[in-house]
Amino acid sequence: MPHDVQIRPTQLADLPSLVTCLNAVFEERRFLAFTAAIPAPEAIAYHAANITSGHPHFVAVDGNVVVGLCDVVPAAMPRIEGQRHCATLGMLLAPAYRGQGIGERLIRAALAACSGRWDRIQLNVYSHNERAHALYRKVGFVEEGRRVGAWQLDGLTSDIIDMVYRTR
Ligand SMILES: CC(C)(COP(=O)(O)OP(=O)(O)OC[C@H]1O[C@@H](n2cnc3c(N)ncnc32)[C@H](O)[C@@H]1OP(=O)(O)O)[C@@H](O)C(=O)NCCC(=O)NCCS
Repeated sequence: MPHDVQIRPTQLADLPSLVTCLNAVFEERRFLAFTAAIPAPEAIAYHAANITSGHPHFVAVDGNVVVGLCDVVPAAMPRIEGQRHCATLGMLLAPAYRGQGIGERLIRAALAACSGRWDRIQLNVYSHNERAHALYRKVGFVEEGRRVGAWQLDGLTSDIIDMVYRTR
């Protein structure tokens, strides 16, 4: 059982450990859009840009090791004026740290940091990912639509569920 997992804003020095955590979850091929590791320099550059832009970015750390993350980024590029009130949330935990309430602590920290920045926090989740779906509903996300059978991989077919959290 892991102990003393802290939730805090991500620092640039966390990024190598964060990318190790992230890529391992991509390689599970079950929960996230990407299904293969991203080259570390590319992933580090992406997250560093989001942190330096001031977008909400939180990690769960066990000592100095990143065991989870939750980040929120604008849903569209700035020139798309009609979506400036919308952001997209992503999150994950390393397998050994799931099912212990750490995800709830992470997402609540990230959502608190969204207040006053965006009106709509959006995400999508695969229907087989019951734990994530339950967590999102628990913290206030509501379902807006469902693309039936839109996810198909490794012999499993699922719906893609679109969800939103309204900050006001
Ligand atoms: C999704 C994830 C972030 C959730 O974090 P977590 O810490 O494991 O979740 P929690 O322990 O806070 O549990 C969330 C809720 O789901 C419930 N839950 C767990 N397994 C469940 C299941 N199979 N079916 C329904 N609910 C379930 C829990 O009971 C809990 O509700 P409760 O607090 O009311 O009891 C984490 O499991 C994870 O990283 N999974 C892999 C990556 C991923 O799916 N990312 C999100 C992609 S959309």
